[in-house]
Amino acid sequence: MNFRKKVLIISELVLNAQKNSMNILITGANGQLGNELKKRSALLPNAHFFFTDVNELNIMEEEAVDDFFKKNRLDFVVNCAAYTAVDKAEKEQNLALAINCQAVANLAKACAKHNCFLIHISTDYVFNGHGYKPYREIDVMEPESFYGISKWRGEQVAKTAEKGMIIRTSWLYSNFGSNFVFTMQKLGRTQDTLNVVFDQVGTPTFAGHLAEAIWKIIPQLNTWNEGVQIYHFSNEGVCSWYDFAVEIMQQSNLKCRVCPIESKDYPTPAPRPFYSVLNKAKIKKRFGLSIPHWKEGLSEMLKNQK
Ligand SMILES: NC(=O)c1ccc[n+]([C@@H]2O[C@H](COP(=O)([O-])OP(=O)(O)OC[C@H]3O[C@@H](n4cnc5c(N)ncnc54)[C@H](OP(=O)(O)O)[C@@H]3O)[C@@H](O)[C@H]2O)c1
Repeated sequence: MNFRKKVLIISELVLNAQKNSMNILITGANGQLGNELKKRSALLPNAHFFFTDVNELNIMEEEAVDDFFKKNRLDFVVNCAAYTAVDKAEKEQNLALAINCQAVANLAKACAKHNCFLIHISTDYVFNGHGYKPYREIDVMEPESFYGISKWRGEQVAKTAEKGMIIRTSWLYSNFGSNFVFTMQKLGRTQDTLNVVFDQVGTPTFAGHLAEAIWKIIPQLNTWNEGVQIYHFSNEGVCSWYDFAVEIMQQSNLKCRVCPIESKDYPTPAPRPFYSVLNKAKIKKRFGLSIPHWKEGLSEMLKNQK
């Protein structure tokens, strides 16, 4: 084969590889979910990733968002950027709305304009938590905390992206940032007993498992014509924060005794849902997912703890 023919074949291969590759923007990439997505990015070998946080791309800046979309031919955006300080949100309402709603509008608008698929992450806190059976995607939302209100309003604007999905998750933790597992371990090392509420029930979610699910879902979206859909994702099973704390102590080999208390004895600035278990039937069926139990999520996280 002569040199010219070889060059032609190679450029064709490169062109085909580019055609088959996809460009994915991850916002808020320094957070819990963003880091777990980064850690597992090898699951999508044909993808090119832009992992950004507020310093690289502040999603509150509409022009910067549009510029980013213009410069990089994006196929998917996974929006992990959020204001997640639930109690502080009661006081910092404008900031919570700016990040959890107005900034989401910037992303949705850019996605619609540039034919990009938006994956937006939301929360179980959009429900009032007065229910008694796992919440489905179609159930009425009635957030009671301002964080929940800001995320609920974020969902409304995320729906203006022409194609996309809103994934509601609950009780997220990971090996990155601060979360309930780290807090329990820290207290468990220094205290003999610890009081934890047992009347708030939900499902902990290891962000690594959510990240894996997102990377499994994306290759299935090529022929999507379903507009913007809502899905629920958490680990399997149900527990109270008390049960979760007991399991954290056990799996971390900590001797601290956990005592169950009622929420009325542990007041917080923002009200929490008493029951926020998510029904995951829709996401499991649509994308063929099998989801590990929350105790497996915890052991996987602890396995990777430095
Ligand atoms: N954590 C939970 O228990 C939980 C439960 C259910 C649902 N969720 C949802 O799951 C998603 C991921 O949560 P997470 O726990 O991974 O959040 P996280 O750890 O708080 O990460 C959010 C990231 O977004 C960044 N960010 C904030 N404002 C930004 C902006 N204007 N532009 C770009 N980046 C910005 C944050 O930076 P700074 O740290 O500098 O602000 C942070 O790195 C969120 O949508 C959250 O609402 C979380």
